[in-house]
Amino acid sequence: MASREQFSSTTGFVMAAAGSAIGLGNIWGFPTNTAGNGGAAFVVIYLALAFLLAYPALMAELIIGRASRANIVTSLKGIGAERGIAWAGVLVGLYGVVIASLIYSFYSIVAGWMVAHWAESVTSTLGLTGISEWLVGFSTERNVIFTALFMALTMAIISQGVSAGIERWSTRLMPIMFLLFLALIIYVLLQEGATEGLKLYLIPDFSGLKPEVFVNAMGQAFFSLSLGVGTMLIYGSYLGEKENLPRIGAIVTLTDTGIAFVAGLLIMPAIFVAKEYGTNVFTDSGELIAGPDLIFQVLPALFGSMGSAGLVVAFAFFTLMTIAALTSSISMLEVPVSLACEHTGIKRNKATLMIGSVIFVISLIICFNFNSLFVWVINFTTVYSQPILGILLCIFVGWLWHRNRILEALKPGMPEAESSLFFKLWPVYVRFVCPVLIALVLLQSL
Ligand code: PHE
Repeated sequence: MASREQFSSTTGFVMAAAGSAIGLGNIWGFPTNTAGNGGAAFVVIYLALAFLLAYPALMAELIIGRASRANIVTSLKGIGAERGIAWAGVLVGLYGVVIASLIYSFYSIVAGWMVAHWAESVTSTLGLTGISEWLVGFSTERNVIFTALFMALTMAIISQGVSAGIERWSTRLMPIMFLLFLALIIYVLLQEGATEGLKLYLIPDFSGLKPEVFVNAMGQAFFSLSLGVGTMLIYGSYLGEKENLPRIGAIVTLTDTGIAFVAGLLIMPAIFVAKEYGTNVFTDSGELIAGPDLIFQVLPALFGSMGSAGLVVAFAFFTLMTIAALTSSISMLEVPVSLACEHTGIKRNKATLMIGSVIFVISLIICFNFNSLFVWVINFTTVYSQPILGILLCIFVGWLWHRNRILEALKPGMPEAESSLFFKLWPVYVRFVCPVLIALVLLQSL
């Protein structure tokens, strides 16, 4: 594989990896999970789990990827083969590829809603009431059309390859996203009612904490860092020799959790600003509205009550969401595409088209059976499979690999690796502590 593509710079990698990590999970999932799980206590638990469990699991993927320079199936097969169980590597790898593809299938539906709401901010400005209503009303046709549109966008980028596609678009789009974010936060925090949301978000109340809160926080952390499904592994495989992996992994983790935290500063106050404007933000049982309704009802109601300023804010907000979703979804599609290209040698654009079409069919099945499948697929992939795959990957690095292999993988970008704190702690940690902790949290959900 002499001509294997690479990211052209450290910044390019960080933008791409942060682009993958920062997505609907941060801006939609994290605040809504916070709202649905009791506010600030959830934030504290989430941050702890992100650093104690998700960062070490991220490191497992980056290290495997850079050491084997291949997609998740080939990489794990190679590690398994060293112990005579190549088949186990293939199975776990394929499990990851399937989950990445399933995540892509539902993620594109949600991302399609973002695009539809974005389009609505334009049609409303133009006074096209009929189209606007169709765009924001829930219908199978709308869902299918916008899912297709969004998937086509992702496929166009992925077929351009690693540096001309993934890296170029991530470095272009991420700064725009950061700026929009900042502008929106400043705007929302200046509105009446914002402080009530801030209080709920920032002052923890640990009384009445349920075990699900831990499971939700962990699922959220794994989803947000794009873990378990081979995304970070394949991105790590495109990293240059000289990169210091633990440092670069820490930068990605900090950026991702930082943005999730900041997204809460936008969304939680926005809920209470909406209340101030007369929107009902509580469910019938008196709890704060969470889940999809938060983004697709509370926020649009807020934008709608702000007059013409609301249209601009809606436009900015849904542009932000679309960009965030796009840089994440390209990283999901890269998982099966890289496997197809490396395994069969078919051309990238052909592989993208074929795989994208198959996954689109899965999205169609979900769209047509929305009530029975949508939530089920989300739970199966993100709440259960991602942490389970996290455990399996820890086992591959911690148990099947010799410590020296970890050292070899670290050394090129970290000459002092052997005496580093990371190398003293991490191999033992992923071997014993990390898989057990993840399993314990998962057991809470039973
Ligand atoms: N991390 C992305 C988000 O927060 C989602 C994602 C999951 C991306 C798995 C890639 C793989 O939206």
